[in-house]
This record gives sequence, structure tokens and C-alpha cells, in this order.
Amino acid sequence: MKDIKNICCIGAGYVGGPTMAVIADKNPTIKVTVVDINAERIAAWNDENLDNLPIYEPGLAEVVSRARGRNLFFSTEVDKAIEQSEIIFISVNTPTKTYGKGKGMAADLKYIELCARQIAEVAKTDKIVVEKSTLPVRTAEAIKTILNQTGPDSYRDGVNFQILSNPEFLAEGTAITDLQEADRVLIGGDQTPEGKEAIQALVDIYAAWLPKERILTTNVWSSELSKLTANAFLAQRVSSINAISELCEATGADVNEVAKAIGMDSRIGPKFLQASVGFGGSCFQKDILNLVYIAKSLGLSKVADYWEQVIIMNDHQKIRFASKIVSTLFNTVSGKKIAFLGWAFKKDTNDTRESAAIYVADQLIDEQANVCVFDPKVKIQKMYDDINYLDSRTDQLNKRHLQVVSNPYEACKDAHAIAILTEWDEFKDYDWQRIYDQMKKPAFLFDGRNILDRKKMKGIGFEVYSIGKA
Ligand code: NAD
Ligand code: UDX
Repeated sequence: MKDIKNICCIGAGYVGGPTMAVIADKNPTIKVTVVDINAERIAAWNDENLDNLPIYEPGLAEVVSRARGRNLFFSTEVDKAIEQSEIIFISVNTPTKTYGKGKGMAADLKYIELCARQIAEVAKTDKIVVEKSTLPVRTAEAIKTILNQTGPDSYRDGVNFQILSNPEFLAEGTAITDLQEADRVLIGGDQTPEGKEAIQALVDIYAAWLPKERILTTNVWSSELSKLTANAFLAQRVSSINAISELCEATGADVNEVAKAIGMDSRIGPKFLQASVGFGGSCFQKDILNLVYIAKSLGLSKVADYWEQVIIMNDHQKIRFASKIVSTLFNTVSGKKIAFLGWAFKKDTNDTRESAAIYVADQLIDEQANVCVFDPKVKIQKMYDDINYLDSRTDQLNKRHLQVVSNPYEACKDAHAIAILTEWDEFKDYDWQRIYDQMKKPAFLFDGRNILDRKKMKGIGFEVYSIGKA
């Protein structure tokens, strides 16, 4: 059996950082090095002040403070880490392609390929290479070809590579508990004696804290496809309840009551039925588009159309929310201040990738509204970057129409309307009477997350719109 003493992970992002921190915490005898080409990010991971870690996740700082400097290290020395490790995780980004064939749909695998080439160049001893990034089914084949056919001739013959697929199922905002108490860990590998030995080496690392029944082993292709499938199913649930929310608004049914009623059926279950302004995050849209692209590439047009509908519904929900604000405000928001509470794509994270807030703001800025945002964790510059990146409008116009403040009361003062875009718990505890008193009247409240007590808000005097309620 392989004796694992050194692990490295290429990519110190939302997955690589927390995942390796938990692996190091639970395996104190294994040295875990997380490497990244982004020196600023590595410096933040090494910052003595744990408030400056590059990622905000509840519980992360505690885990990092226990393991960092003991057996957890963050570094920019990628080659050195590859050379020293028996297991190399690849956890780099796999965004949707923005150019060429598959533009707007396929996963861009250039960062993965660069990693594979770098490993092939540097490795002088046998390596287990683990796909931690989310990848299209059959990517392991390409990685294997690169590993076996590139790199200096002098070492190529003597070095053996085993490729494993070990997708990550953590959700942001709950990453640490998702890792510590994972429903399951999935490990796909070759069903050869060498493949099985590699699988066992990785099983042993997770078995340091997870019961064996939760560590599932499969062939590589099942593992790769299961990750895309899991995200597609989860996103589909959100789009399904959001589709019903529009029907509720038209009929007088209440989407929360419908969700509760169907969720009590044990075949359906209560989770992931929260109607919202639309799902965001770096994964759902990207992974479904990838699934759609794969299905199309294989000529499976009905399969592709089926899953694409989940994205179409989600886009519709974001547009519908912004349009509702405009139509309710007497069909014009030009020159009106609209306060946004929340910019992150969900609570308890500072991540804004694909956040519904960005798209709703964009639509309102098109209507010349003045959007004023407060988010408890997202950095101010990040919000400006998000809105500038999204659109071809000039930076100047965006700056004029998007203001970011560091206090919720300031965001809401003199606003014609407030829109809740993220379900941060602290929003429920605000002094809503004070907020109401300082707003233009009529004071409109658009609760895109259904987190506020509608009756209480109406009692204060707000005109309230909640998702899926007439
Ligand atoms: P991220 O953008 O936060 O981090 C990726 C990191 O990889 C970046 O810091 C980047 O600098 C680094 N990188 C890129 N190329 C590199 C190279 N050649 N050498 C060294 N470093 C390099 O991305 P993420 O959110 O951590 O996602 C990573 C992967 O995990 C993606 O495939 C994603 O789909 C998947 N995933 C993400 C989540 C999530 O919640 N974010 C959950 C499960 C799976
Ligand atoms: C998702 C998957 O859950 C996770 O397993 C995978 O590893 C990465 O992608 P993440 O995107 O971090 O995780 O968060 P998630 O909790 O899934 O939420 C995604 C989006 O859906 C958020 O915008 C969230 O607000 C929204 N959502 C979720 C709803 O609108 N309603 C729900 O009921 C659940």
C-alpha cells in the first residue's frame, strides 16, 4: 500500500483552500501544500490576521489556525510542491469558454491542461493525480494522454501516473461543515490493480474522519458525470420551485406553503425548495451549460433541451424580478434610488460569481435607476468590478448609477425601494421602522429571498412584494 506523506493541491481557491485545510486538519502526519500562481491570493492565505483570508467561510479561520504552519502550507512554488508530493490534487478553475468552439457553453479546460503539462514536466517519481475541479466526462482520458506523452524523455518511461476523479460537493457558506460531515465522498479510478491501489490511498485520507460507508468508489467516468448530474439536479429543483412561484403570484397560492406541502413527501424532501430571485454561484450555470454542451456534442438534442430549460427558467426569474421593480414603481425608475441589501450569490460567503444581484442591477441601471448596495462581506471594489465586467456600458455610466456603501441604513436612506438580493441573517434584525421612516413614500420592499416577515413589514407601512406570493 502506498505510504502518503506529502500532498499538494494546485489552485488555492474556494475549493482548494477549504478542502486542503480540512484534509490537513484531519491528517496531521501528512504535509499538505496548497499552491497557486496568484501570489496575492497565497499571501492572503498566509496572512497572520485570519480576517484577511481570501475567502470568507464560517469555521474556516479556526481550521486554518490549527493546521497552518504545522502540516498545512500555502505557496507559489508549484514545481517544488509537485516534485515532493505523492498525491497532486488539481483544483483550478474551469469556467465556461468565452471563445471558439463551444463558446458560452463548454468548460474551458486550458488551466487543467496547463497543470497536467506542468506535472508531466516536473514529476520524477510516481504520482496520483486527482481531478478535484469539476470536469466534463472523459477528461481523465485527456489528462492521462498528456501525462504519459509529454515531459522530458529521460523521466517519462520510469514515472507512472494514476488519474483519479474526486469531485467536490461542498457548497459555499457551509463549506467547512460540508467537508467535515460530508454526505459522501466520491472517488473514481481505473479498475486495474494499480488504479485500485491509488483509489485506496485516497480512501485512507478521507477515512481519517469519515465512516467508510460514506466513501463511494466508482469508475472514472461515473465519478466525473455524477458531479455534473448532482449540480444539474440541485439547480433544477430551484428552477422548478421558481417556475411555480410565478404561478403562485398569478393564482393566490403561496409558494412557501406549496414548498412545505410538497417537501413533506419523503420522495421529494424539504431541502432546496426555497423560491428566490434566481440561483447564482460559480457552479450551477457553468455545469449545466457544460452538460448541455456534452449532450449536444453527442447528438442527444432532447437531453440537451431538457437541461437547458433550467437555465432559461433561471434567467427568466432574474429578469422578472427586475421588471417587477420597474412596473411597481409606476413604470419608471429613472433617477430613483433603489437600495440593494446583499450582493453575494448566497449568505455566508463573499463570493459574487453569477450572483442574481449583478443581473438585476444591470437591468435597473439600463433603466437609469441609481442602485445603492450594501453587503456585509463583499468588498466594495468587487461590486464595481462585477458590474463593469458584465456590460459594455462605459465605466463612467456604471459609476454614476451604482453606489456602494458600508452601512445598510445609509443604503436605504431616501430610497424609493429596497430589494433584498441575498438572504443574510442580519437583515432580519435591522430596525425596519427606522428604515421605513427615512425612505421616500410610498416605500416599496422587494424581498427576493422571502426572508422578512411580510405581515410585520406591511404593518410598518411598506408596500411588499415577495417571491411567489400574490
Ligand atoms: P477559484 O477560481 O476560486 O480557484 C481556482 C484557483 O486556481 C485560482 O486561485 C487560480 O489562480 C488557480 N490556478 C489556475 N490555474 C493555475 C495553475 N496553472 N497553477 C496554479 N494555480 C492555478 O475556483 P473554485 O471556486 O475553487 O473552483 C475550482 C474548481 O472546483 C472548478 O472546477 C469548480 O467548478 C469546482 N467546484 C467549485 C465549487 C465552489 O463552490 N466554488 C464547488 C465544487 C466544485
Ligand atoms: C453548489 C452545490 O450545492 C454544491 O454541491 C457544489 O459543490 C457547488 O455548487 P453553491 O453554488 O456554493 O453550491 O451553493 P448552493 O447552496 O447550491 O446555492 C446555489 C444557488 O442557489 C444560490 O444562489 C442559492 O441562493 C440558490 N438557492 C439554493 C435557491 O435559490 N433556493 C434554494 O432552495 C437553494
